[in-house]
Amino acid sequence: MNIKVSNLKAEKISCDFLIYGIYEGDKNRFESFIRHDKFEAKKGETLVVHTQGKLLASKICFLGLGKKEDSSIDRVRNSLANASRQALKYKAETVSVEISQANILLEDLSQAVAEGLILGSYKFLGYHKETDPEEKIENVIFLVEGKDKMKAALSGLKVGEILAKCENKARDLVNAPSNKITPEYMADYAKKMAKENKLKIEILDPKKEKMEALWAIAKGSIMEPKVVVLWHKGGAAKDPLIALIGKGITFDSGGISIKPSMKMWEMKTDMAGAAAVIEAMRAISALKIKKNIVAVIPICENMPDAGALKPGDVVGSLDGTTIEIISTDAEGRIILADAITYAKNIGADKIFDCATLTGGCVTALGDIASGLLGNDQEFIDEIIEAAERSGQKMWHLPLYEEYEDYLKSNIADIKNCMDKGMASASTGGTFLKKFVKDTPWVHIDIAGTAYLPKTKGVIVEGGTGVPMRTILEWLRK
Ligand code: BES
Ligand code: ZN
Ligand code: ZN
Repeated sequence: MNIKVSNLKAEKISCDFLIYGIYEGDKNRFESFIRHDKFEAKKGETLVVHTQGKLLASKICFLGLGKKEDSSIDRVRNSLANASRQALKYKAETVSVEISQANILLEDLSQAVAEGLILGSYKFLGYHKETDPEEKIENVIFLVEGKDKMKAALSGLKVGEILAKCENKARDLVNAPSNKITPEYMADYAKKMAKENKLKIEILDPKKEKMEALWAIAKGSIMEPKVVVLWHKGGAAKDPLIALIGKGITFDSGGISIKPSMKMWEMKTDMAGAAAVIEAMRAISALKIKKNIVAVIPICENMPDAGALKPGDVVGSLDGTTIEIISTDAEGRIILADAITYAKNIGADKIFDCATLTGGCVTALGDIASGLLGNDQEFIDEIIEAAERSGQKMWHLPLYEEYEDYLKSNIADIKNCMDKGMASASTGGTFLKKFVKDTPWVHIDIAGTAYLPKTKGVIVEGGTGVPMRTILEWLRK
């Protein structure tokens, strides 16, 4: 998708599909094209009409934005996503967009337009023997009033384009099956991305690094585990080092504590945190973020092979903490533990991690919001604010000290989970906290939000790419 800005009026633009976004009660310049249909510009309402040669655009898509006083960036983003699917349905190749600015900054509005169009028209191509020709919006012309506004619009569009394209790439990784997205594939993918974006990369062997906890999970699979470390040094040498960590379980069978077969296939998405972090690094590089950032991404499979870890086993870890395994299905926190220690050892001053960690988070928040936990209120507030900008909902869950009792073990320093499974999102966070110690840290549990069954707004059925855009909204500030 190629996005441009123009200060021409919609009447002067030749295109297949004009998206005309209006608020309830606003004057509709193209009212004359609506004959027998009713269009009230209610939120989510769309009406597509042929212009019968009376306009240079062959079709107009009236896009309702609801009440002006309720206008928000997120509403624009989601509405544009719906309109982009209408454009695809009508096989439009060149689309122009006119939308009233309301109380939104032009730069933010333009970013939301680009994100809505690119995220909304996402499609996972799959592996069919025969494929239909791919329908794609080739060109977008965003219309602004007056030449002086073109620069701000262009800069917003550029940011939106980068964020949405990277998030779509993360979606591709989440949607692809685990026999394609193996740990080795992910490491090679990160290598290619690093080369294209001139990022320094190291692929570590967890065994050589003495990451005993990560190794304990990986040894139940024939796939070699990998740890990907990516560097972006955009800040001054004295600036703090921010670590981004993403859970990269390419398939979570549960291990010996095997999962029920129903919907087990969905566990191909258990590397969604890793996918979001890899693509966040691509966007960080493209946007030349002026901060020092390191990504530490632990990647392996959780399988019940003969060599697999067993419930009741005690394993070590990079920082020396011993872990009693209650369930081999609580594997994400174990691989994250070593990634967190590694990040601390290389000097991380702040740690952000995202992981499809617990079914309990899905029970608590459904597929509407990710769970957010952390040990530093200022950092938590920064992420919540970034999530508000990205539209990727996050809800703060507690990390009460009392949860530490749930993880007390008689024979090791900590248990990997509680046998009764109470407050599992919070106990998952409590386990990670043991390794994070005092470093400011935020953990996002994306178990409920990484993979969704229904297309709605910017969400297209399948992998969502969450929380890639939130990471960027945070780091851009
Ligand atoms: N990958 C799962 C969590 C998950 C559940 C992700 C649903 C996506 C959708 C994780 O490794 C897991 O199995 N967690 C266990 C932890 C429990 C044993 C304490 C869970 O939540 O059941
Ligand atoms: Zn699991
Ligand atoms: Zn898992």
